[in-house]
Amino acid sequence: MGAREVGLPQVVAADLPERVTIWEVGARDGLQNEQAVVPVDVKVEFLARLADAGLTTLEATSFVHPKWVPQLADAADVLARLSPVDGVRYPVLVPNEKGLDRALEAGVRHIAVFGSATETFAQRNLNRSLDEQFAMFEPVVARAVAEGLDVRAYVSMCFGDPWEGPVQPAQVAAVGARLMAMGCSQLSLGDTIGVATPGHVEAVLRAVTEVGTPIDAVAVHFHDTYGQALSNTLAALRLGVTTVDSSAGGLGGCPYAESATGNLATEDLVWMLDGLGIHTGVDLDRLADTSAWMATVLGRPSPSRVVRALRG
Ligand code: HMG
Ligand code: MG
Repeated sequence: MGAREVGLPQVVAADLPERVTIWEVGARDGLQNEQAVVPVDVKVEFLARLADAGLTTLEATSFVHPKWVPQLADAADVLARLSPVDGVRYPVLVPNEKGLDRALEAGVRHIAVFGSATETFAQRNLNRSLDEQFAMFEPVVARAVAEGLDVRAYVSMCFGDPWEGPVQPAQVAAVGARLMAMGCSQLSLGDTIGVATPGHVEAVLRAVTEVGTPIDAVAVHFHDTYGQALSNTLAALRLGVTTVDSSAGGLGGCPYAESATGNLATEDLVWMLDGLGIHTGVDLDRLADTSAWMATVLGRPSPSRVVRALRG
């Protein structure tokens, strides 16, 4: 059944943006955490179907060490077999210069470096200390910017860390500011383990903007472990954020943070934004069909409430 037939009510609320850019991470954050390696053909079809559903930013894969994330060791093959769609960008994760070399060879134009707000996660995810991560990213960002690439910076563990516990908003703001000062154009604040609640989101966004990162350069990246991702998104939109990361069907997680579950599902996000009259350009029915197909491929139901309601 289609979203319209179900009767999605549309009521515009005050103090919200007219348009939101969805940064779709399903092919990267979603598939990096699968037990089995998803075949290249399936990844390419997934990306094509996401573009066909109207998503215009598709984080496609990662040029990380293939031993660290075997699920994405086929990054170059996926990009080579992709039929790029006009108006769609395909950013990839790049941790270091080796990854940048591989990305440039594959013709990539948009990359994302990914830092940590905490010492322990920097060690576990990057094999670097908190300080060493900046030394690793610095030449990557400098070279990428000189080549005319657009560079996003992620900060992980912005709201809590499974080893260190609470994370201070000022610490997140400082890490973010250091990455932005390198020449990144956008800062995506990751709730890697999904523990944030809306007041906490406000506190972190205020800390980040207070140190000079403009709100229109900030994106939010919520995992939905505790079911808070949509409320957190609404809190961020009310403070002026207009780029939201999500994953088709709610796939996702981080292999180096065991308590991380799926990202905010793109369908759940689009249902809310459609209901608020906020433009995304996404066709919810095509997207739900794509996630229902992916759930069949992966052999388990989608965790997205909206996919289950529309296609269950
Ligand atoms: P390392 O072992 O310290 O690497 O790993 P190294 O610099 O010591 O190099 C060792 C060998 O690896 C060298 O080869 C390098 O050439 C090779 P050798 O000289 O020994 O033959 N190497 C590479 N090969 C291919 N591609 C590369 C690469 N780099 C080095 N890029 C490294 C350090 C950063 C590479 C490793 O820790 C890594 O790959 N980590 C990535 C982990 C990851 O992908 N995690 C998931 C993404 S983050 C996430 O999901 C969070 C996010 O969603 C936001 C949120 O939710 O919060 C973004
Ligand atoms: Mg993530």
